Amino acid sequence: MNKDQLLYEGKAKKLYATEEPNILLVEYKDSATAFNGEKKEEIAGKGVLNNRITSLIFEKLQANGIASHFVKQLSETEQLVKRVEIISIEVVVRNIAAGSLAKRLGFEEGTPLKRPIVEFYYKDDELGDPFITTEHIDVLELATPEEVTAMYEGALAVNKVLQPIFADVNVTLIDFKLEFGRDTNGDVLLADEISPDTCRLWDAKTKQKLDKDVFRRDLGNLTEVYTIILSRLGGK
Ligand code: C5P
Repeated sequence: MNKDQLLYEGKAKKLYATEEPNILLVEYKDSATAFNGEKKEEIAGKGVLNNRITSLIFEKLQANGIASHFVKQLSETEQLVKRVEIISIEVVVRNIAAGSLAKRLGFEEGTPLKRPIVEFYYKDDELGDPFITTEHIDVLELATPEEVTAMYEGALAVNKVLQPIFADVNVTLIDFKLEFGRDTNGDVLLADEISPDTCRLWDAKTKQKLDKDVFRRDLGNLTEVYTIILSRLGGK
């Protein structure tokens, strides 16, 4: 598969066209960013780790009946995906209070929620990705009510599959962010990445943070903890 023109460059990934109109190539970069790009660092090996972890997770989701844009891992830093039009909404699922939820509602970090909750954020760097409701989604015309339902139910389904997969390897899935797109038929399809950049993952016993909070909060070595996640998931 040829790597054709660069279509888009984000904070952590580059997106290229291929000779197949409906297949794109994603290249994972070594950049780590936090706080809407305010904190930035190049971390050698991060791209390889996130490409491998995301590929493994999408494969496990697929094996459990959850479709996504993922086609296959192509190389250490590259994967092939189906072309989708990304919906400008970040869908967050939370099992345990942490991060912005803990801050906003006064939960102590680590408090289990009585049930998983789904939140929507407007994917807009200039606005700082604000929290939005389904009514905001409607007036901003970001997605139809049917698409919102598909994302809501899809996000909970991903949580149901991933929670036990992580629990089996002594990792607690605290929360995570998903993105969805519209495929060439107009159907909602899980897209983007699922990695320690986009999830909070704690060691089930020690509560050690094994995710991007290590970088955000200067808690240790990012590649070390991402490598722990990769190997616990059965990757090399
Ligand atoms: O910061 P907050 O607590 O709202 O994040 C919830 C979850 O969504 C975390 O797992 C975080 O890593 C992820 N997230 C993300 N990209 C963002 C915002 C949050 O991957 N832009």
